[in-house]
Amino acid sequence: MDINNRTVLIVGGTSGIGRGLARRFADAGSTVIVGGRNTSQVDDLETVTIDVTDPDSITRARDEVLAAHPNLDLVVTMSGVMIFEDLRDPAHFAQAETTININLLGTIRVLDAFTPHLIGQGHGDFITVNSGIAFMPFPLMATYGATKAAVHAYSESFRQHLAGTGVGVTELVPPAVATAGQEKVNPNALPLDAFLDEVLGLLTQTPTPNEIVVERAQALRWAERDGNYAAMLEQRSQSLTTLPGR
Ligand SMILES: NC(=O)c1ccc[n+]([C@@H]2O[C@H](COP(=O)([O-])OP(=O)(O)OC[C@H]3O[C@@H](n4cnc5c(N)ncnc54)[C@H](OP(=O)(O)O)[C@@H]3O)[C@@H](O)[C@H]2O)c1
Repeated sequence: MDINNRTVLIVGGTSGIGRGLARRFADAGSTVIVGGRNTSQVDDLETVTIDVTDPDSITRARDEVLAAHPNLDLVVTMSGVMIFEDLRDPAHFAQAETTININLLGTIRVLDAFTPHLIGQGHGDFITVNSGIAFMPFPLMATYGATKAAVHAYSESFRQHLAGTGVGVTELVPPAVATAGQEKVNPNALPLDAFLDEVLGLLTQTPTPNEIVVERAQALRWAERDGNYAAMLEQRSQSLTTLPGR
């Protein structure tokens, strides 16, 4: 995938991985717009206000971006929340709803909003964002993992729907990355710059891989194939002891 001459919208690009990726595309020469609810925290890139839970907000943002950038040719669906849940307490349902609304339905809403434009243009790319947790659960974030597994399955089908249109679908599969507070609680989280170096190396391969799986994410992505699934799940379930009453 070319990263030098693109017109890119990163929805969920106002912080963390999305903002870092936006900076890399901009530094490579691409035109970049980042979207999110809190655009005031971004002063070095063009922004658009968008809430992926609100269809009207998405339509407004889409129209604004396409009016200013009719050649938009790459859309990244980065918006996501990572929420801990205690599944013994039915009150977790509110967190499950929020997670599904942003991570899964939000992704689908944004893909839907830009699909006619990219198909009409006859070329372009979507990058969807899942997680190593899609393939190897982290039980403290049950609905999160469910939404990311769903984004993976959806992306696989979406790619087939778009076959022959000139529009590609690539999935980003991050491991734990030192953003969104992970840098404080997870000593194994990969530093953002190291992660992005590897991502850019994989993304610019020809042909573009269907999945961008950095070295640190490989063990999660392929745990089942490699026969490590049960042992890893057991080990990752230790995190449940941090919940009250466990
Ligand atoms: N960090 C990790 O370890 C890790 C691992 C695997 C996958 N991921 C995935 O990578 C993506 C980015 O995560 P991150 O670590 O960079 O987290 P982050 O810094 O919290 O960034 C999340 C982004 O999502 C946006 N967002 C949240 N709710 C939104 C909404 N309702 N509408 C529009 N945008 C919304 C936020 O923007 P506003 O607040 O401005 O709305 C922000 O730009 C997520 O999809 C996450 O699941 C992260």
